[in-house]
Amino acid sequence: MIEKSQSLPQVAVVGLGKIGLTLAAVFANNGYKVFGADKNKQVVDRVNQGKSHITNEPGLNQFVQDAHQNNTLIATDSNVEAVSKANIVVVIVPVLVNEDNEIDYQYIDAAVQDIGAGLQEGTLVIFETTLPPGDTQNRFGKKIEEVSGLTMGEQFYLAYSPERVYSNRIIKDLQHYPKVVGGINKKSVGLASDFYKQALNCKLIQVSSLETAEFSKVAECVYRDVNIALANELAKFAEEKNIRMSEVITASNSQPFSHLHSPGIGVGGHCIPIYPYFFVNKGLDQGLTPLSREINDSMASYAISKIEKRIGSLENKKVLILGLSYREDVKEPTKSTTLLLLEQLRHKQANIFVNDPHFTEGEIINHGGLPLSLDDKLIEEVDVLILQAFHEEYKEINFKDFTKCKLILDGRNKLNEEEISRLGIIYESIGN
Ligand SMILES: NC(=O)c1ccc[n+]([C@@H]2O[C@H](COP(=O)([O-])OP(=O)(O)OC[C@H]3O[C@@H](n4cnc5c(N)ncnc54)[C@H](O)[C@@H]3O)[C@@H](O)[C@H]2O)c1
Repeated sequence: MIEKSQSLPQVAVVGLGKIGLTLAAVFANNGYKVFGADKNKQVVDRVNQGKSHITNEPGLNQFVQDAHQNNTLIATDSNVEAVSKANIVVVIVPVLVNEDNEIDYQYIDAAVQDIGAGLQEGTLVIFETTLPPGDTQNRFGKKIEEVSGLTMGEQFYLAYSPERVYSNRIIKDLQHYPKVVGGINKKSVGLASDFYKQALNCKLIQVSSLETAEFSKVAECVYRDVNIALANELAKFAEEKNIRMSEVITASNSQPFSHLHSPGIGVGGHCIPIYPYFFVNKGLDQGLTPLSREINDSMASYAISKIEKRIGSLENKKVLILGLSYREDVKEPTKSTTLLLLEQLRHKQANIFVNDPHFTEGEIINHGGLPLSLDDKLIEEVDVLILQAFHEEYKEINFKDFTKCKLILDGRNKLNEEEISRLGIIYESIGN
């Protein structure tokens, strides 16, 4: 049973994942008593030992440890209990899409049911999870009203403030990015703004409605996806014309209105490949938004076709993919391009290996890959290398050790082309 604090303002953070735990730990070091709730008992136990279950987020372990020592962060597996102790509830439980790209609300719906059950009159509820516009009020606010019997905007307050941070620098981003805040009414926006000013010490951008705040976060993701798709389209065209896209980008972006992004083998992660569907599934189903998803998801097969053009069929060839994570230096396999590569290389009947220093062998196997250490003798047998995520560790790779390697596909345009070519290995990339 967690005790209610007598002196500090109390916050419940529902969902103690990568983002939720970081928020909880930061709030708990900035003058709040935080009750963190998560359905995962292991997460709760770890936090209650003063330890972070997220291992590669700079500064987080220390924040959790300090908050634990000061008794300002307590975790529970009961959302109802945490919410019942709080004046402010922050919700950061994910909304995902399923295999057919339909919106999957199962986790957050369950959390919202609990929030309704535990809510006390006068509490401010803030959603930070990326949501399809309209959901804070129409789906979740209404559900909380139904379960709690309290009226939104009057007996409880409702705000939305999207989480915009980037993994590996969440604590920094929380301070440096302005917090966009929308509310169901003025009182809700005012309460949420006061909270963030103290809890995060960041700048605020107040917008006129919940929907505007929700829309702004999805729009950020669509912007990135569309611009990466444009870079990919231009990179493919540049290849046809025998022009180096990297040179084009440097030249074009010297003009202040040009912000060409980098082309690459694909877009992965929690955000960019998922949130455009929050618009697509709610009516924006024509035009650049869905097209960009298609273009970016086609880059893995484009890369494979480039390899086949140079060295022929991949049947029985040994292909090593570097990086299971969707991007460099994080342990995040969600929607990683490696998953697309694995699927397509299986169709080609290649022998596929995966290396990623952030994952155990068991984890790589669970994601459908055959693990291969870079110290293993078998790397001498590898026919093709595909760089998917350019982890720090890969900066030191000695390609001389890949004695039979015929081709390296540099999916992130990061490797040294000259060095690779000097070894007699074909260098391929996206756009160069
Ligand atoms: N990861 C990122 O880089 C990132 C960046 C910006 C914004 N976001 C936003 O943050 C959200 C959360 O992301 P994350 O990376 O922290 O996710 P995560 O998968 O690391 O954590 C989610 C947590 O929610 C818990 N959970 C699931 N159902 C629950 C329930 N009913 N009640 C309580 N807890 C429950 C899970 O056990 C898990 O610990 C995302 O959906 C996104 O909207 C994430």
